[in-house]
Amino acid sequence: MTKVLIDCDPGIDDALALALLAGSSLELVGITTVGGNVDLALTTANALSLREFLDLGDVPVTPGSAGALVRQTVRAAHVHGVSGLGEAVLPPAVRPVADGHAVDFIVNTLRAAPGEITLVATGPLTNIALAVRREPRIVEWARDFVIMGGSYTRGNHNPAAEFNMLADPEAAAIAFDAGWTVKMLGLDVTLKAVVTRAVLDRMRPLGRLADLLVPAAGFYGAITEDSGPAIHDACAVAYVMDPTLFGCAPAVVNVETTGTYTSGMTVTDFKVPGGRPNALVATSVDVECFWELVLGAYEKLAERLG
Ligand code: RIB
Ligand code: CA
Repeated sequence: MTKVLIDCDPGIDDALALALLAGSSLELVGITTVGGNVDLALTTANALSLREFLDLGDVPVTPGSAGALVRQTVRAAHVHGVSGLGEAVLPPAVRPVADGHAVDFIVNTLRAAPGEITLVATGPLTNIALAVRREPRIVEWARDFVIMGGSYTRGNHNPAAEFNMLADPEAAAIAFDAGWTVKMLGLDVTLKAVVTRAVLDRMRPLGRLADLLVPAAGFYGAITEDSGPAIHDACAVAYVMDPTLFGCAPAVVNVETTGTYTSGMTVTDFKVPGGRPNALVATSVDVECFWELVLGAYEKLAERLG
């Protein structure tokens, strides 16, 4: 069974990614949180509530960095709502966060199980960068490193950069230059993973789980017959579950950190200058199979939750 440690900033699509993890056969070994969509206190409170709501057992939730390495804070509450979960209201968590800091948790967890754990990041890469700086060998210990972030075509928070990269460009640059091959699920594919009316209709009958999925997705964007909000972060988890859903190509990705208008841009060169790629970049997705995988996992989880 593939083990996963997820670093996230819940966040509506982070929540849907955690729900996908909960309904999958992946073994979640830890959740770490970072400031991103909303402040760290809220991303952490949301992670704690989601852990209990999704019946994730005693998986540790460990908070990390509140803000970027050097930049001013960038938030997306206008997208995810003041709570960070749109109009979804979950019972407040009973159990507390784990002791310690996310960076130590990431380093110690990967050190204890070299080659076994896939590190997934669905928020700004601040915790990941600090972990790499603290212990560069995590790039060897991680079984894989999969992110939702970046784009080789366009931005979303601004024309040049995707939010997770824009929120901490210096951290993203450290992560891409660390020596592993980053599996980059960028906007190029995640913008195709949209909740249309037909998808929402399959979420509605899912009992308690629908109490999260429907109001969260409904807040995340307008839903029509052939368009809707993209559940970006779920693509990173879906990649771990079944990488064949995605077409990928090797590339050299450099993160812009000095541009006035382009900071956070993931400059992607598929010609792989120097002959050594630092990323495997998703360029296509089988949308129909993606939704069969996601909704199948949600239906399985719903049977457990009631
Ligand atoms: O650009 C999309 C990403 O930014 C997602 O991870 C979303 O949760 C936000 O953090
Ligand atoms: Ca996120």
